[in-house]
Amino acid sequence: MSAPVLVAVVHHSGYGHTARQAAAVRDGAAAVPDVRAELLDATALDSALWRTLDAADAIVFGSPTYMGATSAGFQQFAEASAPVWAARGWQDKLAAGFTNSAGANGNKDNALLALSVFAAQHGMHWVSLGLKPGWIYSSDGSPDDLNRLGAFVGAMAQSPSDLGPDDAPGAADLATARHLGERVARTALRYVHGREAAERLGQAVEEGRAVGEGRAVEEGRAVREGRAA
Ligand SMILES: Cc1cc2nc3c(=O)[nH]c(=O)nc-3n(C[C@H](O)[C@H](O)[C@H](O)COP(=O)(O)O)c2cc1C
Repeated sequence: MSAPVLVAVVHHSGYGHTARQAAAVRDGAAAVPDVRAELLDATALDSALWRTLDAADAIVFGSPTYMGATSAGFQQFAEASAPVWAARGWQDKLAAGFTNSAGANGNKDNALLALSVFAAQHGMHWVSLGLKPGWIYSSDGSPDDLNRLGAFVGAMAQSPSDLGPDDAPGAADLATARHLGERVARTALRYVHGREAAERLGQAVEEGRAVGEGRAVEEGRAVREGRAA
């Protein structure tokens, strides 16, 4: 039996709100059979962090939106990944992203786009959120909707600035984060097993070609030697 597919969720959180969102992403991924999910602190910057990311089939990046962009804590991790970038260590892994901030908008989109550009720099394949926008997108929407903040690139969450991480982000945003984790895990399963199947098929085609070529050589020899049927 092959090893379970590994989804790593690496995030920074200054005050614990984005960490709650990250845990929900991890829980969503871990709920998919045959998938293992690891929650990682981007500020650890130790060998265990890089080893787990190296082994991951998919990496989900998360950062709070600070000053309309990814946080300095996340950016320190991003810049520390330069040796991995140079070695193309994450090339062709799957990637996705999430962010949390106090404003309903708060320029969260800029942080998500920065995460997707970061993944593209590493040659990764980006997995979108895959949900229609909820809440005020239509007049019958509700603040309890999945994707109530209407993002496409990744998962967004909003934490009122006067609430601690025990109370924010709220249930709808955590469910949206969980959805992202599950979607990444299911995509990773298809990707990894699809790649394995393609490799097996390629091998079978090569073997078939080799057998065919061997037969052709033998038939040619038989014709030359006057043994042809
Ligand atoms: C330095 C700093 C900058 C911030 N900038 C923004 C911002 O641009 N937009 C926004 O909506 N909230 C902003 N906030 C609020 C945080 O995004 C919000 O408190 C978030 O829940 C913090 O997540 P964390 O607990 O994971 O650090 C900022 C907070 C800090 C400390």
